[in-house]
Amino acid sequence: VAEAQAAAEAASDLGALAAAMEAFEHCDLKAGARRFVFCDGQPGARLMIVGEAPGREEDREGRPFVGRAGQLLDRMLTAIGMGRAAEDIGRAVYITNVLPWRPPENRKPEKAETAMFLPFLQRHIALAAPELLILMGNTPCDALLGRAGITRLRGTWAEVLGIPALPMFHPAYLLRQPQAKREAWADLLAIQARLRAAT
Ligand code: URA
Repeated sequence: VAEAQAAAEAASDLGALAAAMEAFEHCDLKAGARRFVFCDGQPGARLMIVGEAPGREEDREGRPFVGRAGQLLDRMLTAIGMGRAAEDIGRAVYITNVLPWRPPENRKPEKAETAMFLPFLQRHIALAAPELLILMGNTPCDALLGRAGITRLRGTWAEVLGIPALPMFHPAYLLRQPQAKREAWADLLAIQARLRAAT
């Protein structure tokens, strides 16, 4: 983790951070993954989304949230007038994950893996400097807030590096538990209201 800390701190912009992360060898996930998955959407966006880790499609394409969960995420964002390809930067989002490499068979990330990449994630957030963060599911909550239990955490604003952060149900969970979309919708409206209040 000390090496990750040093590498993350040395990165002075997002390009340097991506290069440092991709070159970072102290994690076994790299050997089992196909593509490095750093980000999607637009740096400079007001809203940044932190997911868990690449799955099969993301590993193939090298972009976060491009599988079924990602398609649901896009629909959720569209519903509040936001999107990763928005031409208006005020409506754009920026997306990353706790881990840049796919865990084997999409297993849950291990604590040691998320701890190893935490300095990079914190640097990523600091360099992207969004106004608001969405923490999608338990993994980013555990990594960034030191708390898990998304059912309890969701819907209550927390803070990450001084930035307001809202834990939400992960879209993959919403695909399995569609009744939880009610809560997700309430959280999306809270994001929208906060973005509007700040303009
Ligand atoms: N789930 C995530 O958490 N991240 C992705 O990039 C894709 C699915």
